[in-house]
Amino acid sequence: TQSLRLGVAGLGTVGSAVVRMVERRAATLTDAAGRPIRVTAVSARDRTRDRGLALADVAWFEDPVALARSGEVDCVVELIGGAEGAARATVEAALAAGKHVVTANKALLARHGAALARAAEAAGVALAFEASAAGGIPVVKTLREALAGNRISRIYGILNGTCNYILSRMELEGLTFEACLKDAQALGYAEADPTFDVEGYDTAHKLALLTSLAFGSEIDADGVSVEGISAITPLDLRMADELGYRIKLLGVAETTPAGIEQRVHPTMVPKSSAIAQVMGVTNAVTIDTDALRELTLIGPGAGGEATASAVVADIADVAAGRLVPAFGRPAAALVHPRRAEMQRH
Ligand code: NDP
Ligand code: HSE
Repeated sequence: TQSLRLGVAGLGTVGSAVVRMVERRAATLTDAAGRPIRVTAVSARDRTRDRGLALADVAWFEDPVALARSGEVDCVVELIGGAEGAARATVEAALAAGKHVVTANKALLARHGAALARAAEAAGVALAFEASAAGGIPVVKTLREALAGNRISRIYGILNGTCNYILSRMELEGLTFEACLKDAQALGYAEADPTFDVEGYDTAHKLALLTSLAFGSEIDADGVSVEGISAITPLDLRMADELGYRIKLLGVAETTPAGIEQRVHPTMVPKSSAIAQVMGVTNAVTIDTDALRELTLIGPGAGGEATASAVVADIADVAAGRLVPAFGRPAAALVHPRRAEMQRH
């Protein structure tokens, strides 16, 4: 049997962890996928940087678009990041060349997911994105496969590891917001521009993707009303604590009489609740359905290894030929905040 040949574009926190995991788990992955999986090409900006990877037999591309078009690659793993620029060009070039794409890039999918899904469908290739929401938690697979017979009324949770890490350490250790953010960056949790984390946009991107999967609606990140955690002070956390609450940044999408509403905001949750126990970089996603009532998935929301776990699961699906459409055809209607605002007044 022929190997699946991977081109990994981006060798940062996630890309390096993926290359290591594919190598480390080679035998298990061959069993799971029914054929070997090999990294044959990589791309990053700085060729001289020591990434602790064995890349002697791997082709190096300065330009990730050239990697995407290379005849040595069957599946492009995009781990560059960002909604535009190199990441978008790489994914578009890969799909145009009939290559499968695996990505962790929620910013890209939140903005261009529908068009990219159409391109993948037209080319008959996969556009897989398990790692793009809630890091290592297999929430995309859960929504798409395990809950196929359920009607979902609400999905909500802690979807950003950086914010939960910051809030947890500010509360438990009395550290400043800035010190906690710095540590989250050093640990590889934060986005290249951490404004996306702390202002709630990253949560909104993930929520928009999960909403589309949960409700069969369009991907509408602009339709999410967003408030982040940058204005939360140690005093806010202390006051919440005295009242028996914790503050968590939640993303919530739920059905309302007007349509599906999406919002991201800091929320006071009772300290006795399950979601209040979710601390550090851990994420949690609760899904309310008719058949299950409530299902909660909890696990690592960011970091190289945890995210690689989800990326590698997608790679195994591609190698095994388990191809599913990236997003369904939009059916349910969404509430846009401005429209909701107008209806309230
Ligand atoms: P990093 O910033 O650590 O890595 C980005 C990589 O992309 C680097 O290797 C960089 O090269 C490379 N790169 C940047 N621009 C270019 C370019 N123009 N051409 C070629 N290579 C380029 O990011 P992460 O690994 O943290 O994140 C990658 C993706 O995964 C993002 O979409 C992020 O949102 C997503 N993600 C991240 C998670 C995490 O915990 N970190 C979790 C879930 C998703 P160089 O190394 O030379 O600078
Ligand atoms: N910056 C993101 C987070 C990475 O902190 O959750 C995982 O998507």
